[in-house]
Amino acid sequence: MFNTIDEVEKAFSKNNYIADRALATTVFLAGALNKPVFLEGEPGVGKTEVAKVMAEIMDTRLIRLQCYEGLDANTALYEWNYPKQMLEVRLEEARGHSKEEIGRNIFSEEFLLKRPLLDAIQGTNERAPVLLIDEVDRSDEEFEAFLLEVLSDFQITIPEIGTIKAKHRPYVVLTSNRTREIHDALKRRCLYLWIDYPIFEKELEIVNVKVPGIREDLARQVCSFMQVARTRDFYKRPGIAETIDWALALMALGISELDNGTVDATLGCVFKYREDIQKVHDEGLPELIEKAKVLKDRASKGPANAPFVRTWKT
Ligand SMILES: Nc1ncnc2c1ncn2[C@@H]1O[C@H](COP(=O)(O)OP(=O)(O)OP(=O)(O)O)[C@@H](O)[C@H]1O
Ligand SMILES: [Mg+2]
Repeated sequence: MFNTIDEVEKAFSKNNYIADRALATTVFLAGALNKPVFLEGEPGVGKTEVAKVMAEIMDTRLIRLQCYEGLDANTALYEWNYPKQMLEVRLEEARGHSKEEIGRNIFSEEFLLKRPLLDAIQGTNERAPVLLIDEVDRSDEEFEAFLLEVLSDFQITIPEIGTIKAKHRPYVVLTSNRTREIHDALKRRCLYLWIDYPIFEKELEIVNVKVPGIREDLARQVCSFMQVARTRDFYKRPGIAETIDWALALMALGISELDNGTVDATLGCVFKYREDIQKVHDEGLPELIEKAKVLKDRASKGPANAPFVRTWKT
């Protein structure tokens, strides 16, 4: 899929995704070793986007299986199109077909509703698709065991039809927000990567890419505020998605300088829980803004200060 890790980094960057070395290496190895990628990390750090960008780069289909509590094998794999089968039974009865004939016909591929996993295994394209199994931690443990089976041999058996095997093994990306631990057996089959909140420089690059036209100084103010905010113990720390949303909101409001009033009025872009907004007010918004300013000033003094910025703690 890729010849070098640099190639991966460049391809991601061309698609507006800033991939650090660890991610680029994981994606490179996924192609070289034909292994699924397991991305774990806090919400909004760019896990789902990796699969989207991979499909974009490889010019192939993205098949998404969104996991949730109660998701079962049938919903993920295939279901019979019951209304269509009933209609066919009526028609064939009217034509005088025997029960055996009708039974054979209605349990054929034509009456199969392909769900994401079967779609990915059977994909009719010449190219392997990217299969995104999103937020696997939301599914139940039984479903996880079933996934393990599917990901081991990429084939499934439908009793009425037979065994279907993938012509092209899909590129698989699993994501988890770690609301529960995923079993070692599943992780062992994958290339595991923890995606952390970005360091200041990476977040700045992301903002510049995702919010075209933003003034450099405003981008720096936004990123340093986020870096400082993440050092605090919030119920839900803001991710990159919030950084981008906030920067876009500030641009739409024509704001160029973060002051107390502006941040207060737009806090809903950064924090999504009432308790967190309350906490910001209790602990003092001006102090948070001041700390962000100190960080920004140090960061803009150049690479000599970079190690400090990377290990910034308030
Ligand atoms: N490295 C990056 N480069 C460019 N954009 C990024 C990067 N990381 C995250 N983003 C952007 O941040 C936003 C959130 O990303 P994404 O939805 O992939 O996060 P997630 O980890 O899947 O979050 P959740 O757990 O809430 O589903 C997207 O708009 C994405 O484009
Ligand atoms: Mg996601």
